[in-house]
Amino acid sequence: MPPAPNALWRNPRMTAERTHDDQDRAGAEATVNDILQGAWKARAIHVAVELGLPALLQDGPRTVADLAAAAGAHEPTLRRLLRLLAASGIFEELGHDDLYGHNALSEVLLPDPTSPVATDARFQAAPWHWRAWERLAHSVRTGEASFDVANGVSFWQLTQQDPQARELFNHAMGSVSLAESRQVAEAYDFSGADTVVDIGGGRGSLMAALLESAPGARGVLLERPEVAGEARALLESRGVGERCEVLPGDFFETIPAGADLYLIKHVLHDWDDEDVLRILRRIAAAMAPGSRLLVIDNLIDERPAASTLFVDLLLLVLVGGAERSESDFATLLEKAGLTVERSLPCGSGPLRIVEIRRA
Ligand SMILES: C[S@@+](CC[C@H](N)C(=O)[O-])C[C@H]1O[C@@H](n2cnc3c(N)ncnc32)[C@H](O)[C@@H]1O
Repeated sequence: MPPAPNALWRNPRMTAERTHDDQDRAGAEATVNDILQGAWKARAIHVAVELGLPALLQDGPRTVADLAAAAGAHEPTLRRLLRLLAASGIFEELGHDDLYGHNALSEVLLPDPTSPVATDARFQAAPWHWRAWERLAHSVRTGEASFDVANGVSFWQLTQQDPQARELFNHAMGSVSLAESRQVAEAYDFSGADTVVDIGGGRGSLMAALLESAPGARGVLLERPEVAGEARALLESRGVGERCEVLPGDFFETIPAGADLYLIKHVLHDWDDEDVLRILRRIAAAMAPGSRLLVIDNLIDERPAASTLFVDLLLLVLVGGAERSESDFATLLEKAGLTVERSLPCGSGPLRIVEIRRA
């Protein structure tokens, strides 16, 4: 029979256990509370970025009054925002003169097109981005991108119509790709490549790294027309423009035939299984018998890091996509008449290169 409630408190051993339980509970509550407040903390950072505070402090500390005037903010409220951010470790309050300046964490937010965190902070700060997360429950109920119901247009439509949205996305994606492209060029030997097609090649940093590492290769970069110009500019700035054709187009419609090597990096994860299959079938039809396809993506392994799983949900809410495991890919590839030859790690994170041939 369980002890009566009063007996519990008279038993010293049980009292000690209860105290221990209470401490566990208090610790758990503090942890969950901290996680919940994390959403507000992120929002406060978004607003600091939206107001341009990192750039305004670039040349040294400034008073809140000065910052408020420069940023077009309500001074007493900006003071409250900065006070919270400083208490959270972002920016530093210097003495008692109402002065704020950068510290190691806030410096990460300085505008820099090559910094994944700085560009991502701006991408996340966009109201349409936040609105998609606000409707996460819609995605969980339906399996569809919440972006569309939250914003009235799809992510791809918005980034086609709105140059500012496109720039935020392309910069966030481009900064990640800049570092990854070097890792891909180190992990895979492109020296024997002759003709290479990069499908949905973005701003072109992977193609540029490949052409730099394989001086005999020629490339075709297939991209949406509204992004193609940026790819052209980057390839020219890297001195490989003459060896690469930038082809504006739609990978659901056209994929150039007969290349030695096809690359598709961080593209398949933007689509659901049905669309992935449509793209893979198009690629399979374009491949010659000896062609190879490299699917380059973050793969979900046995013990994925939470950061990988956050991106998985990000893909869900923005575009209805998903991160996949190697066996998820193998199933889809098989349906498209393709087969995995080998899979290589790339860098120290979840990025992998899956080398594929026609079955
Ligand atoms: C997540 S980004 C990846 C870009 C690049 N591969 C990289 O790793 O940085 C997906 C790319 O697919 C392009 N894209 C989306 N739909 C497309 C379509 N139907 N045809 C061609 N490109 C498309 C986008 O413009 C975007 O640049």
